[in-house]
Amino acid sequence: MSATTDVISEKPVDTPIRKGESCILVIFGASGDLTRRKLMSALYNMSCGATKTERFEVLGIGRTKMTDEVFRVAMREATISSKETREFNESDWKDFSERLFYFEGDPTDEAMFPRLAGRLKDMRSSGASANSLFYLSTPPSLAPAILHGIGGVGLTASEEGRWSRVIVEKPFGRDLASAKALNSLVHEVFEESQIYRIDHYLGKETVQNILVFRFGNSLFEPIWNRNYIDFVSITAAETLGVENRASFYEETGALRDMIANHLLQLLTLTAMEPPISFDADAVREQKVQLLKSIRPMKAEDVAQRTVRGQYGEGVINGKKVQAYRDEPGVKKDSNIETYAAVEFHVDNWRWEGVPFYVRAGKRLGRPLTEITIHLKRTPHALFSRTKRKHVDPNVITIRIQPTEGISMSFEAKRVRSHMETRTVTMDFSYSSNNTEVAQTAYEALILDAMQGDATLFTRKDEVEAEWQLITPIEEAWQKGPPPKLPNYAAGSDGPAAADEMLARNGHHWHKLFPQGE
Ligand code: BG6
Repeated sequence: MSATTDVISEKPVDTPIRKGESCILVIFGASGDLTRRKLMSALYNMSCGATKTERFEVLGIGRTKMTDEVFRVAMREATISSKETREFNESDWKDFSERLFYFEGDPTDEAMFPRLAGRLKDMRSSGASANSLFYLSTPPSLAPAILHGIGGVGLTASEEGRWSRVIVEKPFGRDLASAKALNSLVHEVFEESQIYRIDHYLGKETVQNILVFRFGNSLFEPIWNRNYIDFVSITAAETLGVENRASFYEETGALRDMIANHLLQLLTLTAMEPPISFDADAVREQKVQLLKSIRPMKAEDVAQRTVRGQYGEGVINGKKVQAYRDEPGVKKDSNIETYAAVEFHVDNWRWEGVPFYVRAGKRLGRPLTEITIHLKRTPHALFSRTKRKHVDPNVITIRIQPTEGISMSFEAKRVRSHMETRTVTMDFSYSSNNTEVAQTAYEALILDAMQGDATLFTRKDEVEAEWQLITPIEEAWQKGPPPKLPNYAAGSDGPAAADEMLARNGHHWHKLFPQGE
């Protein structure tokens, strides 16, 4: 049962318009999936209206031979069909597309880079900015060639009057050793202050709101610890399958794709200590401290504290969907996990004894990303003589998507009853409390990189600390036999083993289809 209370407490204020600094954005991987699905719409959104940056050009690099005009037509289609495009109109598109260019080149061919330097020089002699922002949206295997290539022709130096920065897309390596190797490689040509390792979850408004919720209110911080919190669960459920990314996914799996970065970031923001300021290094310092205090898993713990799953066929939104192993490009006997759940423990003063459960999965019953904070029961069961044996503990739910907001459940007296209780919820929803249209995550992060603000990007030691936690799990999974897969039906809540893992501690996940919803 639920009651809804809306919280409206402020008059609208004028938010200052954020603009990036002028630059040429050079995208490696311009014909790839990410450019089509997310980057182009973000660039188009930020190039319309008041957020438009003067002297901002985009140069997409790909292996396919095509002219600027053909590239623009393909990107127009992509922008129109992307869910992240705010409002498409031809006049804004024309304005943006005149600043959109294509460069055909194969990064494994060294001869490409002097040509690229020449093209950038030509753009600059026609008035483009002297600053360069490189975006590596390519498989990690191409990173060495690209970084050495741009470094070799002098494109990576930041000096008086011009800057050069690089955004590196995830996955940042595939284990601790490869992440360290990639860090050393990037550092051969860029200083840490020029490097922006992107995790797009950090660009989501609701993810940033976790810190505001925790550190901007005196109501929650006093209870944000082991004395009041029983356990925390973090869910990233998707109804989507692997779409057209089977070859990437077959090499990656849910643990590396989602938990190694997005979910560990959500956990970190939920559990970190307050930073001394919102300066990039102050925030990242605290995040690294928290990541380092998460207990690395021993091989013998992996069986108890992790679950992997793979979807079989099933029904989602009334439509039959095929099993993972039947998706085009997937091996018929693939043991790659499309679902992973992990029980983490934070070994520090604040969180001793509080489990943090995280789970991420494809083809689950409904799309839902949320953090649930389960408070402890009241010390004495005062209302136990009513029909319900126990009153439910309070739960704070931070909804990241799709219905962004925060809700709190608590007990209230049933009217006309003799102290019978029922659970009600108080709900804050972003959409009904904000008239401003939110920026997409990529838009916010690209603007940050254009402004030189690295607060929402992962630092070298942070990304290594993430892999330090994930690599022992991957290694134990590789050694041990996989469970019998598939072990969950598409459209369900995931494998039963994940429910059992929490039930052993007397805990539970938030059901994707709670009764009564
Ligand atoms: C990406 C993963 O990083 O995040 C995808 O590679 C996943 O597999 C996506 O679908 C989820 O992002 P969002 O913003 O849709 O939750």
